[in-house]
Amino acid sequence: MDQAARLRELARHAPGRTRTIAVASGKGGVGKTNMSLALALCARREFGRVLLWDADFGLANCDILLDVAPERTIADVLRGRVPLEEAIVGGPGGIDVLPAGSGVREAVEPNAAQRARLREVFERLRSGYEVVVIDGAAGIGENVITLALWADAVLLVTTPEVPAVADAYATLKVLCQAGRNAGIHLLVNMARDAAEADRVAARVSAVATRFLGMHLPIAGWVPLDAHVTQAVRARVPFSIAAPACPAAAAIGAVWARIGPAAPVAAGGGA
Ligand SMILES: Nc1ncnc2c1ncn2[C@@H]1O[C@H](COP(=O)(O)OP(=O)(O)O)[C@@H](O)[C@H]1O
Ligand SMILES: [Mg+2]
Repeated sequence: MDQAARLRELARHAPGRTRTIAVASGKGGVGKTNMSLALALCARREFGRVLLWDADFGLANCDILLDVAPERTIADVLRGRVPLEEAIVGGPGGIDVLPAGSGVREAVEPNAAQRARLREVFERLRSGYEVVVIDGAAGIGENVITLALWADAVLLVTTPEVPAVADAYATLKVLCQAGRNAGIHLLVNMARDAAEADRVAARVSAVATRFLGMHLPIAGWVPLDAHVTQAVRARVPFSIAAPACPAAAAIGAVWARIGPAAPVAAGGGA
């Protein structure tokens, strides 16, 4: 067994390793769904049981992206109408997908009972899968923050655009106020080049340190890559349609930094 394989084997059994990753952003359209899907596919290369959880209850999109029209969704599960297992569908590349229903009000603003059921679902998924990637809604809705507090690690996605950066910072602040100030990693998506990504990352992490007293590790950056747009149009994950494209290579590096085999375990899961 080579060293990488040994590390992966260790990660598989070590408690406290990252198994649930919540992908968050301030602004919509920054690439959360595409990055979540690509991360789940990276995870699947190392682990047998990987789930992509579309937790964008207000505006579900995994089903659009994946070209599956789910009959049952997490909304039915949270309403107690359908067992969790029946809502999970097979996705591309051997991953499982838990679809969200769009415009489900009680899932967007859950009451105490629904929140408790959400926790139950979270725990069952966490123990049933080796890696769960949670594709959350944009912004600071209650569910987004809740899932980000529960997850082992948070991947905060922004683009270099000023409004996206400002909203990423606002999300960071809310997470911090809610009690999460560790295990959050920044991903700069759709950057033109490394210099632009570095500038954005440096700015956000400096603000985080200065105003929130928070260390914000950089998960990496993903270039603006036409393969992503083409893949979305073809409804195929970009890392499957073009496995050697720049965005796929970049997300592989991100996975190596934040996945369960990363040398430093993420902390802060509440
Ligand atoms: N790295 C990238 N390069 C080029 N286009 C991208 C990239 N990431 C995302 N996109 C484009 O941005 C759009 C929004 O991405 P999506 O993953 O749906 O964002 P979100 O889930 O944050 O709303 C996609 O349709 C895709 O065309
Ligand atoms: Mg999305």
